[in-house]
Amino acid sequence: MMNPPLEICVLAAGKGTRMKTMIPKMLQPIAGTPMIAHVVSTARALKSVKTHLIVSEDHAALKAAIEDQGDLNWVVQKEQLGTGHAVQQAAPFFMADSAVLVLLGDVPLLQPETLQALLEDPADVAVLTVHLPNPAGYGRIQRDAAGCVIGIVEDKDTSPAERAITEINSGIFKIGQGLLPDLLAQLTNHNEQGEYYLTDIVSIAVARGLNVASITTDQVEAVSGVNDLVQLAAAERFFQRRQAQQLMRAGVRMLDPARVDIRGAVTFGRDVVLDVNTVLEGPCHIGDGVVVEAGSVIKNSEVGDNCLIKSHSSLEGASLAQDCQVGPYARLRPGAVLGAGVAIGNFVEVKQTTMGPGSKASHLSYLGDATIGSRVNIGAGTITCNYDGVNKWQTILEDEVFVGSNTALVAPITVGRGATIGAGSTITGAIPDAALGVARGRQRNIEDWPRPEKVLDAPGLVKKVKQPKAGD
Ligand code: UD1
Ligand code: CA
Repeated sequence: MMNPPLEICVLAAGKGTRMKTMIPKMLQPIAGTPMIAHVVSTARALKSVKTHLIVSEDHAALKAAIEDQGDLNWVVQKEQLGTGHAVQQAAPFFMADSAVLVLLGDVPLLQPETLQALLEDPADVAVLTVHLPNPAGYGRIQRDAAGCVIGIVEDKDTSPAERAITEINSGIFKIGQGLLPDLLAQLTNHNEQGEYYLTDIVSIAVARGLNVASITTDQVEAVSGVNDLVQLAAAERFFQRRQAQQLMRAGVRMLDPARVDIRGAVTFGRDVVLDVNTVLEGPCHIGDGVVVEAGSVIKNSEVGDNCLIKSHSSLEGASLAQDCQVGPYARLRPGAVLGAGVAIGNFVEVKQTTMGPGSKASHLSYLGDATIGSRVNIGAGTITCNYDGVNKWQTILEDEVFVGSNTALVAPITVGRGATIGAGSTITGAIPDAALGVARGRQRNIEDWPRPEKVLDAPGLVKKVKQPKAGD
């Protein structure tokens, strides 16, 4: 038998008051991606003919958070009168012959495979359930003596006996071809919360002699709802654990998967090693053989094959060719573009700067708005003075320049190929190819210089410090 066309309803209009945050619940991120976007991508994976997103009137931010909306039907629920009322808002859009899958925006981590089993169930109404040791807060599944599902009772409406039921409603339903509008029409709000509960469609269907089934999953964490920040943190940990397992199975080595967080779209080459307390935020690509040492954070960057990111480095918006070494304690900011084999050492900050192959800045430097050629050596303490308080200016160091330690490069400035800069220089003008530029006070020596002396009053007690006379 051909399956009927599938429509999906995603409920995302609730106020999320239990979150106690100003950010709407649906925009709270899990692994850097808003909750609602997780649900939308699950819906897409199921290949529905249409996805209806039920949202409140105030949903501009939600719209902005979802890319490619061509396949989404935004349905406004003006007043939040319950999950059943929410689905009723979409009913006028349903096709006559489709089956409907209801997903909750705050149950974001279900996988398409789990939902597929629900979709394949031939029952008129199928509900996804799970057994929870602590079912508080969830709707409970009611069964008759024969074990058939006969209803769902919401937590707030439970009797003490019902409260003890540990099988709960995930909130996810499949309703067979063309049946949902009639079931919704029979909902009432005669309950503790005065809401139209979607869950009541189960008892309504049973009363009508329809066939109701349950699919029970063992994916407890994937089915858990996110109603407050405690559950949001639990969802984040679950997502990270599941993602880490997938990545390790695909060949990414993690010394401790519980101490690696990966957010957004991050792709990996082969033989990548991630040490503890590393955070990767997409979009990122991490090439073959890359080692990321402890405590490093990489965001929105491309890391070429065989790069070594030493401990406690921060990369954001950077692009590294192969064989670079960065850190420990390095900071690559947006527009840092490193050629093959570049070395960036401790306490070096690089911003909007291109460095050609084989160039090195090994210690304590700021390189901003610079174009640096190949095999350039940047001495310790080199600073590009790129900002005059209003404008940013460029520094150009051509191939094989050697910059002595503690040099200030006052931009705009161009240093020619193979030029050398003497240590401690403040360079304000161009240096031609192969020349030596030095700009510092000359050394003079004063013979027999009287050093200050400590004069002791009593043993161990400093009374005064004798200074050399002015002009000495
Ligand atoms: C709901 C179920 C409960 C189930 C639990 C699973 C009902 C009545 N209860 O309870 O049986 O165990 O989910 O997590 O269905 N929403 C709207 N419009 C509304 C109300 C809610 O769009 O008027 C949306 C919310 O944004 C949310 C979802 O529906 O994404 C669920 O609403 P929520 O209030 O969180 O229901 P629960 O109390 O968690
Ligand atoms: Ca909920």
